[in-house]
Amino acid sequence: MKQTDMQKIAQALVAPKKGILAADESTGTIAKRFNVIKVENTEENRRNYRDLLFTTKGFGDYISGVILYDETLRQKGRDGTPFAKVLQKAGSIPGIKVDAGTVAMTGAPEEKVTQGLDGLRERLKEYYGLGARFAKWRAVITIGDGLPTLANIQENARLLANYAALCQEQNIVPIVEPEVLMDADNTIERCMAVTTMTLHEVFDALYDHCVVLEEMLLKPNMVVSGKKCKKQASVEDTAAMTLECLRRTVPAAVPGIVFLSGGQSSAKATAHLNAMNASGPLPWQLSFSYGRALQEEALAAWRGQDKNVAAAQKVFYGRAKLNGLARSGKYSDKLEKEFASV
Ligand code: 13P
Repeated sequence: MKQTDMQKIAQALVAPKKGILAADESTGTIAKRFNVIKVENTEENRRNYRDLLFTTKGFGDYISGVILYDETLRQKGRDGTPFAKVLQKAGSIPGIKVDAGTVAMTGAPEEKVTQGLDGLRERLKEYYGLGARFAKWRAVITIGDGLPTLANIQENARLLANYAALCQEQNIVPIVEPEVLMDADNTIERCMAVTTMTLHEVFDALYDHCVVLEEMLLKPNMVVSGKKCKKQASVEDTAAMTLECLRRTVPAAVPGIVFLSGGQSSAKATAHLNAMNASGPLPWQLSFSYGRALQEEALAAWRGQDKNVAAAQKVFYGRAKLNGLARSGKYSDKLEKEFASV
């Protein structure tokens, strides 16, 4: 059967060796990242930082697509070329974050729902005109005492499905991102239970809203121990439980699963992806859509100074390459040590 444009884009985003760079930090979130390296959060600094990433030599070798924030999709790089063009020239597909962040859920202030459906159809039309071929919407599920509630999971699933259906109507591939947070003290077993329930509800809602599974990507959390949990699961157990959860919940028609890093260290995020791909064959492509885990080292090397751009690009490329190797189980501790020593 002839493939649709959206199927081709979805497959290109999870092509062998490649994954997605999430560079869609809102102005508030990038402030937190810049704060760590003492860089002022001005439009120019945001532009220069994104320019640094996107003009890295060989960018498209391992980065199939980039999720941008509204401001960045409208910006031009340092040489005056619109960022969407810069990415296309590098062999990477521009994408766009379209949710408008989270707010407390009515009646359940400890839980969050995601906003942004109002006017989304018109915004998608405009984003398509600006070059975006895929989009992202992030839902947040919180683990805690008696949390999450089924009501919260179902509401977030419904919003994700609405968003995904609208994207496909506008020829934009939706990345469906239900993120179970890893900040609490819960065990990995609890993360497994909550992630399983969340993904069941999400795929139920996608079915109800007639979302075409072949024309979307899933961006889930890995099944991990909560950050504050005393007993941290091994890389092997994390990989095995994540795969078990995904096999039970994600239909094989979905072309790819692109993980978020969610606060894992860069090395752990790469190691987990590698362990999963090493234990294939798998029904879907298993790749990355990391924000922090692809950028942390580059940000630390840059520190807002032009003289550090080349060094920052080198570590950015190096980390992207390690994740590219993890796509086929070819990453190793030895390669990680070599990377750390250059
Ligand atoms: P992290 O990899 O830093 O979790 O970011 C991915 C993302 O896009 C979150 O929405």
